[in-house]
Amino acid sequence: MTHADPTPLAAERSEALKGTLRVPGDKSISHRALMLGALATGKTRIRGLLESEDVINTARAVTALGAPAKKTGDTWEVLGRGTGGLAQPAEPLDFGNAGTGTRLMMGVLAPHDITVTMIGDASLSKRPMGRVLGPLKQMGVEVDGDRDRLPLTLRGTSQLTPIVYELPVPSAQIKSAILLAGLGTAGETTVIEREATRDHTERMLRHFGAEVSTETGEFGTRITIRGEAELQGRDVTVPGDPSSAAFLIAAALIVPGSDITIEGVLVNPTRTGFYTTLQEMGGDVALLNPREEGGEPVADIRARFSKLSGVSVPAERAPSMIDEYPMLAVVAAFAQGSTRMDGLAELKVKESDRLAATAAGLEANGVRTEVAGDTLIVHGTGQAAGGGLVATHLDHRIAMAFLVMGLASETPVTVDDTGMIATSFPEFRALMEQIGSRFKASEA
Ligand code: S3P
Repeated sequence: MTHADPTPLAAERSEALKGTLRVPGDKSISHRALMLGALATGKTRIRGLLESEDVINTARAVTALGAPAKKTGDTWEVLGRGTGGLAQPAEPLDFGNAGTGTRLMMGVLAPHDITVTMIGDASLSKRPMGRVLGPLKQMGVEVDGDRDRLPLTLRGTSQLTPIVYELPVPSAQIKSAILLAGLGTAGETTVIEREATRDHTERMLRHFGAEVSTETGEFGTRITIRGEAELQGRDVTVPGDPSSAAFLIAAALIVPGSDITIEGVLVNPTRTGFYTTLQEMGGDVALLNPREEGGEPVADIRARFSKLSGVSVPAERAPSMIDEYPMLAVVAAFAQGSTRMDGLAELKVKESDRLAATAAGLEANGVRTEVAGDTLIVHGTGQAAGGGLVATHLDHRIAMAFLVMGLASETPVTVDDTGMIATSFPEFRALMEQIGSRFKASEA
């Protein structure tokens, strides 16, 4: 999916934000539910699937691979083909802007005797794929011309060799791709991660009936999947996305007088680093009514306007809040004192170089920043001038973070494009307006 004309938007200083609401389903879990549904035998029913462009591209991809995914009433149904049962697609698979869809699908395709061309938009075509293709090639996958960027053509095989692989970077996408390949491989495939990354793949594989064991020690965590397991179609309920909720929660913390509650948000500990950090900054953020839904921890999150202080965010926390750094950096501008964020190497290879884009956006709006290697420092003064134009580089999270900034800045903040927000959070503007945020069209 490509976006033709950019649609700029400005966010203006707003009155207190109020309300109780829900955010759409978690993106990571939505991709995985469609893929495991396709690899299971029988029907999988998914409630709360995120209907964003990234996820719809995955739904189209599994359909093109012979496992039709369609919506009936308020439930998505996938008719699975069983482990190793996907078919040669007639056309290239288009993943649009979605790194997760692309990389996890490489693992899904690997143990099949099919040849698949994968394509994506300008942002996705710049992102490194070698990190996933490297281990998959060790297992027996071939890639035409040995390319490590999209477009590329991947040749799977039903004769993969199991591997033991230590992740060179903390990435749930690499881990998941190897485990999904391991699912269709005879024997045991093992991934070792030094730092914990989101564990939705492991949880969901077990939910569908696969044998996945984990062992944690000084070395980190060893995750092993027993291959050639038969998955059974299941019911999946997708909780609210904490990475989408982050924008509303941040807005409530920085707009004076605000008090909002978001119900049913995923609070898996591999995803909650942002909320922990906000609390350390003095943010009035409470995780209420904790419960378990569909094998994942869920809570209602209440946030109220707070006086914030700068903090130091340790590098080890990065994997649990990797998608939230642009938003945290904006919040840090409204805190008193400096906030230091270490260990941000992975931020440079997201939908854009988010380290550079975040620092540039803050500077354009009168906030002093420093970037040194993998560290970002934001010098907060409790307020921001605003008035800047932010370059979003086809990156949904840069667009949303800086629109939130405008709600509390002295003068409006404009982002050069909002089209990409639909890749993860199509309801962003409507939900933000529902709690009182003020936006206005801009010529930019
Ligand atoms: C994701 C993992 C993270 C994250 C992305 C979703 C996933 O990427 O940034 O938005 O669903 O596995 P990495 O695994 O590359 O860190």
